[in-house]
Amino acid sequence: MSEERKKLVEVTGLKKYFPVKGNLFEKKYVQAVESVSLSIYKGETLGLVGESGCGKTTLGRTIIRLYEPTDGRIVYDGTPIYDKKEKISVRMLPYRRKMQIIFQDPSGSLDPRMTVGEIIGESLDIHKLTSSKAERTDRIRQLLEEVGLNTEHANRFPHEFSGGQQQRVGIARALAVEPEFIVCDEPISALDVSIQSQVVNMLEDLQASKGLTYLFIAHDVSVVRHISDRIGVMYLGCLVELAESYELCSHPIHPYTQTLLSAVPLPDPEKNKTRTRLLLEGDIPSPINPPTGCRFHTRCPYAMPRCKEEMPELKEYAPGHFGACHLLEQNGSHNTSTSHNNKEDKE
Ligand SMILES: Nc1ncnc2c1ncn2[C@@H]1O[C@H](COP(=O)(O)OP(=O)(O)OP(=O)(O)O)[C@@H](O)[C@H]1O
Ligand code: SF4
Ligand SMILES: [Mg+2]
Repeated sequence: MSEERKKLVEVTGLKKYFPVKGNLFEKKYVQAVESVSLSIYKGETLGLVGESGCGKTTLGRTIIRLYEPTDGRIVYDGTPIYDKKEKISVRMLPYRRKMQIIFQDPSGSLDPRMTVGEIIGESLDIHKLTSSKAERTDRIRQLLEEVGLNTEHANRFPHEFSGGQQQRVGIARALAVEPEFIVCDEPISALDVSIQSQVVNMLEDLQASKGLTYLFIAHDVSVVRHISDRIGVMYLGCLVELAESYELCSHPIHPYTQTLLSAVPLPDPEKNKTRTRLLLEGDIPSPINPPTGCRFHTRCPYAMPRCKEEMPELKEYAPGHFGACHLLEQNGSHNTSTSHNNKEDKE
């Protein structure tokens, strides 16, 4: 990617804690997102991966302020829209047009009592984007066509559609307000494998034609590696590694990323047989009472005494390649890498 990339979204020290029932003496929180800092460049797709419950959805929703942050700073296209320390918290309605979300569960995210035309039209109405009924109807038809649906579909209800078609309606609703940035929260994981690639291809085409910027959330690196320019890896609320896709997949520097990647099947069955699979011991700790220091230390094969005391900062170890691990500080970049994928794996 070129050096003149412009940051569309810039997040610093972002935290999101959810209050949960404690006792009389102690308030308890799910520490779902812990001090995440990252930038998303205009026109790129940033993939976000990690195990279930690591905070991907919470991070995506907090960045666009569907969830109110607990702490940190969010800058959108050069304007701070949230800053806890500076007490900045802008009115979000104008930004709702610019920042949209596509949900993981297409049927659950569409109101069953509204027709598809009403669902898409509602977004147009909230932002007063059409000036006459005829213009509104034309715009709804145009959006349906853009996502590969028929104009007659406007009069049908969500339950009359397949999962893939429902997701297309969700995408049309997001596109209705002509956004710049879309959080795609596992948009294909609820869909049949046979239609997953159609939806991904459509999202890629829409990105190219409209210059969209995506935060693309998935459980699995194999889903995002081909569509993402860069990939971020989360573990228990923390961003532990961030790099360009190929770099991350071929030279993972964080012990957790190395484990995640070692479970991804390689295209070549012969290489699959010979490579080493790394297994994590133990369960993911609770985000209500996360481990001290590095949150990965209870499962990390390289854990040192320092790891229990001090949370590692995300630092750049090679150009554009960030990791949060004390071992990297000690050894420098890539020394813990298993390089489980090699150059031939790039398609
Ligand atoms: N509204 C909420 N109230 C309390 N806890 C929440 C809430 N939303 C999420 N959490 C908790 O925050 C943590 C992160 O959840 P989140 O949904 O962001 O994870 P995720 O990485 O998106 O998981 P998945 O891959 O299963 O979608 C989890 O422990 C979850 O139980
Ligand atoms: S900081 Fe320590 S525990 Fe955490 S990933 Fe690095 S070596 Fe493992
Ligand atoms: Mg999620």
